[in-house]
Amino acid sequence: MFKYYSKEEEKTIKSFNKNGYIIFKLENKDNLNQIKKFFENEIKKLNTKKITGDILNNFHKYIDSKKLNSFRMSLYSKFNKNYYKKLYFELAKKKLELICGNELAMQRKINLSIQMPNDDSSLLPIHSDVWSGCSPYEVVLWIPLVNVKKTKSMFILPKKINNYYYKNFYKYKNSEILQKSIDTKIKWLKINYGEGLIFSHSLLHGNKINLTKETRWSFNCRFKSLMSPYDMKDLAETFLPINIRPATNLGINYVHPKTEK
Ligand SMILES: [Fe+2]
Repeated sequence: MFKYYSKEEEKTIKSFNKNGYIIFKLENKDNLNQIKKFFENEIKKLNTKKITGDILNNFHKYIDSKKLNSFRMSLYSKFNKNYYKKLYFELAKKKLELICGNELAMQRKINLSIQMPNDDSSLLPIHSDVWSGCSPYEVVLWIPLVNVKKTKSMFILPKKINNYYYKNFYKYKNSEILQKSIDTKIKWLKINYGEGLIFSHSLLHGNKINLTKETRWSFNCRFKSLMSPYDMKDLAETFLPINIRPATNLGINYVHPKTEK
């Protein structure tokens, strides 16, 4: 196998191979600021009370928790327009291409999480997405709109420890026992505004009740190499191709000459 990477690319690949994830500086700060502004303006529309200061971190002060999900869903559909999806992709285009390849399939919809302090309605117990029909060829691009750390963030099980649990999985009789054992080994990811995370969702990961005093805002979206194997989340259903290259199109549309009438 040939490896024609630059030194910088080699560094990223080594880090991803070692840990199963990378945290990196986003590639387009203007795009990120534009996305943040969009959400701040939507919150301002919601509330007639004068909203000042750090709107996203303090969001829980402006909304009744019972209305959170319907508000989140309205933001989700407004945000999932082509315009914003392109901005989102451009935040990590080079890194995604380095890790997955330069012909990509992107999940149709970018998911939005809003995790308010002490809210237990949107918890994700420890899991791997591959166990629920995702292909192990996928990675997740996870981007926060606020600084996150500890329980305001998500946790991941480092690759080495993850490998141990995969090999010894049969020893853990249910997810509660598994979670208890893993709880002391999980790593809470510290990611600042302006940074992003790409991780393999075959690594065990999840979140817990946000015990900080601030609200987490984050996006996640799956990407994979267009031609790599799919599982239950299929092309055209869950994924859409982006930037199909001319040679691939030639191949897809090629028709062999007719040799018989
Ligand atoms: Fe997940």
